[in-house]
Amino acid sequence: MIKQLFPYTKGYRILMVLAILCSAGEAVLELLLPKAMSNIVDVGIANGDRAYILSTGLQMTVMALAAFALGIGAAALAAKASMGSGANLRQAEYEKIQQFSFRNIEQFSTASLITRLTNDVASVQVTLMMGLRMLVRAPSMLITALVMALTISMRLSQVFLVVIPILVAAVALVIVKVGPRFTALQKRTDDLNLVVQENLNAVRVVKSFVRSKEEQEKFSQRTDALRSTAQKAFGFVVMFLPIIMLVMGGTVSAVMWIGGGYVHSDSLLPGDLMAFFTYVTEILMSLMMVSMVLMMLTRSIACARRIGEVLQQEPEITDDAADPQLEVADGSIRFDHVYFRYNPQGSTWNLEDVCLDIRPGMTVGILGGTGSAKSTLVSLIPRLYEVTEGSVSVGGRNVKDYTMAQLREACAMVLQKNTLFSGTIRDNLRWGNDQATDEEMEAACRIACAHEFIERMPDGYDTYIEQGGTNVSGGQKQRLCIARAILRNPKVLILDDSTSAVDMATDAKIRTALRQTLPGTTKLIIAQRIASVMDADLIVVMDDGKVVASGDHKTLMETSSIYREVYQSQQEGVSIDG
Ligand SMILES: Nc1ncnc2c1ncn2[C@@H]1O[C@H](COP(=O)(O)OP(=O)(O)O)[C@@H](O)[C@H]1O
Ligand SMILES: [Mg+2]
Repeated sequence: MIKQLFPYTKGYRILMVLAILCSAGEAVLELLLPKAMSNIVDVGIANGDRAYILSTGLQMTVMALAAFALGIGAAALAAKASMGSGANLRQAEYEKIQQFSFRNIEQFSTASLITRLTNDVASVQVTLMMGLRMLVRAPSMLITALVMALTISMRLSQVFLVVIPILVAAVALVIVKVGPRFTALQKRTDDLNLVVQENLNAVRVVKSFVRSKEEQEKFSQRTDALRSTAQKAFGFVVMFLPIIMLVMGGTVSAVMWIGGGYVHSDSLLPGDLMAFFTYVTEILMSLMMVSMVLMMLTRSIACARRIGEVLQQEPEITDDAADPQLEVADGSIRFDHVYFRYNPQGSTWNLEDVCLDIRPGMTVGILGGTGSAKSTLVSLIPRLYEVTEGSVSVGGRNVKDYTMAQLREACAMVLQKNTLFSGTIRDNLRWGNDQATDEEMEAACRIACAHEFIERMPDGYDTYIEQGGTNVSGGQKQRLCIARAILRNPKVLILDDSTSAVDMATDAKIRTALRQTLPGTTKLIIAQRIASVMDADLIVVMDDGKVVASGDHKTLMETSSIYREVYQSQQEGVSIDG
């Protein structure tokens, strides 16, 4: 674990060493103080030596001030080093996630990735900070205090023979019991985040279905689960403190009782007894510190393991193109006996034996009911998912021969569930092409029939889009997303049900504009209405992961009974399922 996370301390290692040294210095100075105090009592006061008392007092003041300064220094250095290392870790994790394929992300779930990026890193950070302060300080305090106590009185030190085993047993018990609960605690945090994330993302749906109550119920269930898990975990931790206090009180009484007797019988100096007291407290304190750090460590190990899982996850789809310069030659697409399943261990295919041959510049319509795998089919083209068997080629080469950047540059896809980002319309369009000029943007928006409504907005192309595009209508959002894809000037343009919220007339206008202005671009249009794809060069009809018919409208009307049925039902104004 430590080996795995160690590289991320880069740039902060010197600070860490300094923090540890400062803490150690602080501990040593603090430990010298009681002995000096006992000297004042046993030598200074006993002999009535004023000068000795004053000079020792002065020494003590200097030592205390130095200890104070070192303490502050140690805290500042430890904070800086741990926060910095945490930032490194978070950055690395985020970069890794950016390389993840869709499937990788689905494996972890977005909610869990968020916890792993925030909560888990924070926990590791705090432990590191505490660890840097305590790791050296506590053991050095423990050992030095023990040695000092032993030199003061061997006989009195026998109390430790009873005390220390009790404490060690208590610490061990807590760690063994608490460790697994902390893992559960992080899992519960994931669950809670999932509800929050889903709910807030879909707050409009929740409200419109008047599901607030149910969602609140769900939230409070998860909160309760988190609370009870936390209670179980921290319950043990809390129990630990009274135990320590009890042991501490018992020890102090015992030392007072036995040590008092020694002083009475003149076998121990009163100053030494005082110092001994201080050392006893320090020994117990340092044991407490060690146990606190160990407890935090058990939690952080759970967190660090989760972070490690993300860092170690191999991105499923990698850029291993032999020639990184290879560009997509044209918009031809070929599916060669493609089989695909989302679940690699599954037994049923989501796509089964798909063969397609699409020439550059063709317009291809894809029809089929909900769940017939239309989106799945097209997502294989820009390699959002990897085929399980068979191959997909674009521009005459297997999609795996290109780098992701080259492939996705050439294949623009408007996803069924698309998003705009907060920023102006112009910013959003630039996602498609960050060098686009105003003229190019306008041209793209004209094709997508977005120009008209953008013009009518108060700030035109500088209109601010709120997070998730909530201040534009569904149809406007879809048209902006299409414009953004067109701006890429792609060889293949995929529209996954991208005009579902656009009226029929505008839909037709967009298709005509695409055909006229992008003749060289291969256009794949997934649609619900046959009318949207009737004039396509090729229409592919999907059902249950298979291509059940393909051809142009005329051929399909003659050869495919499914197509004929759907066509007739839509002519009557009834839409097909989904
Ligand atoms: N990310 C995913 N993980 C697992 N199964 C999925 C995923 N996306 C879609 N599916 C499944 O694949 C099938 C086809 O889905 P999809 O391609 O979205 O259909 P369509 O776009 O035609 O409505 C469905 O049965 C769906 O449940
Ligand atoms: Mg779909």
